[in-house]
Amino acid sequence: MPLAEPIRAALATRAGAGWYGYETRPDVLRDAFWDWMTERHSWKGAGLSSIVSPSVGTSIGVIIDESTREGDAVVIQPPVFTDFKPLIVRSGRTVARNPLVLGENGYRMDLDGLTTLAAEPSVRLMILCNPHNPVGRLWTEEELRSVARICAEHDVTVIADEIHADLTLPPQPFVPFATAAAGTGVTWAATHGPIKTFGLAGICDTLLITDDNEIAKRFKAASSRLHLTRNNVFAIAAFEAAYRFGSDWLNELLDLIQMNHQRLREGLPEPIRVMPHEATYLAWLDFRDLELDVPRLTDWLVGAGLALSPGHWFGREGAGFARMSIAVEPATIDEAIRRLSQHRSATAGTIAPRP
Ligand SMILES: Cc1ncc(COP(=O)(O)O)c(C=O)c1O
Repeated sequence: MPLAEPIRAALATRAGAGWYGYETRPDVLRDAFWDWMTERHSWKGAGLSSIVSPSVGTSIGVIIDESTREGDAVVIQPPVFTDFKPLIVRSGRTVARNPLVLGENGYRMDLDGLTTLAAEPSVRLMILCNPHNPVGRLWTEEELRSVARICAEHDVTVIADEIHADLTLPPQPFVPFATAAAGTGVTWAATHGPIKTFGLAGICDTLLITDDNEIAKRFKAASSRLHLTRNNVFAIAAFEAAYRFGSDWLNELLDLIQMNHQRLREGLPEPIRVMPHEATYLAWLDFRDLELDVPRLTDWLVGAGLALSPGHWFGREGAGFARMSIAVEPATIDEAIRRLSQHRSATAGTIAPRP
């Protein structure tokens, strides 16, 4: 699907202006973001700090530095987005793994495991992925509130990566961690922005949102020390156009994602399945019944002619799965199904069971 026309037009106009020097970020950008959040997710910005950050990774890296000390541990819930672990490890912190639990009805969080981990004195921070890339779960208000309560009780700060928030598929509502956590006393920050929703990761800024004055103060200090607010004139134009004029395009994209997911549900050859999908443009395909180990599944997918992200990239719990972008034309999904079906038939008798 081509990029939203209002964004392309705003970028073309900005490019045509012919001057690309320093430009102050106008306050209307924050207004555009909060008008959008209020309209789409009934989330209002009153009383919250909204701080510009070049990327989600930057925000999480700064929060790790500012909210924990070397040697402290940070919770992640694999299988999960690949950048979290290196951000933790490269800051000299350790990874505290609380894997998601895969049951009959899909994935859920291991709240008992989280309670045990959070009680460890070294555990100071949790990176929550909401919605969860790559498994496509949209955490419910109840689940989020449980996380908030557990983390509040053990004084663990939560950084909620909510960059896929706008890619929540109807009819479920996206519940911001901030809303679910209200009144629990947990210390939190959340990352937002148009980069995933509108395909703008190559040019656009993000925002760090928090209600905590200390986090806001430290983040702003780090930002000023490292010049994190150095701006990009195209990012400013795209950010405002996305949030002011991107709604219709996004609705179409969400329809497309739902349609493509249905195509996968109905068209994938046995025994390959697609997991239930509540959010993001990334489908989580289950190849476990092919009974291939990690290298052989990787080879099998290459043999099928598909460039998917192998599940083990997201943690060992992802082995046997693969992630597929479904923000594409339906014909591309049909072609993927055709290749998978053909390769499945061609290899059906040749796959030796796991030794
Ligand atoms: C959950 C999640 N967080 C963060 C990012 C990357 O954000 P950034 O490039 O701004 O660091 C992605 C990209 O796919 C993502 O899926």
